[in-house]
Amino acid sequence: MSNQHEEHEASHKPPIRKEMSRRQFLTYTLGGATAFMAAGVTLPMVRFAVDPILQKKGEGAFVKVVEVSKITNEPQEFTFELKQQDGWYLSTANLTAWIRKDESGKIYALSPICKHLGCTIGWNTNANFPDQYHCPCHGAHYTKEGKQLAVASKPLDEYKVMIKDDWVYLGEIIPNTIVK
Ligand code: FES
Repeated sequence: MSNQHEEHEASHKPPIRKEMSRRQFLTYTLGGATAFMAAGVTLPMVRFAVDPILQKKGEGAFVKVVEVSKITNEPQEFTFELKQQDGWYLSTANLTAWIRKDESGKIYALSPICKHLGCTIGWNTNANFPDQYHCPCHGAHYTKEGKQLAVASKPLDEYKVMIKDDWVYLGEIIPNTIVK
């Protein structure tokens, strides 16, 4: 009977609250504030370091260059701008392409960089090599498809080409796929 009475009384006692000491309060408060400030400083730094890695690279991007109707069988030189993102550094490169369409109407674009030592080639610039690309530096010359005929050991590179809404778009430079 007395046991039941004690149990009954105990169940009606208010729960004992553990008081937080001043020291504990200060520790929790300062700890929380420090963690908050550390996150505020660290997270932007982590984002700064990682963001360029996560960003989509410019590879595969195409640049609108010229209307399809302007392309002839004769190679023509066109210049265009390519925006490049290297980490946090954004730059603009001025590029040149020699564009023509072949007898079947297929449009392709050649890089003007000589495959010997990197000088710039021109079309029909040397009377000794009519209807060819010629490099003034050491005399390399190429057919209109970019096939090397002397000095250079490889054909001229080409740009990836995309035709959309009657415009020629150029992409990244790739090894020549026209010359067999
Ligand atoms: S760089 Fe063109 S021939 Fe040498």
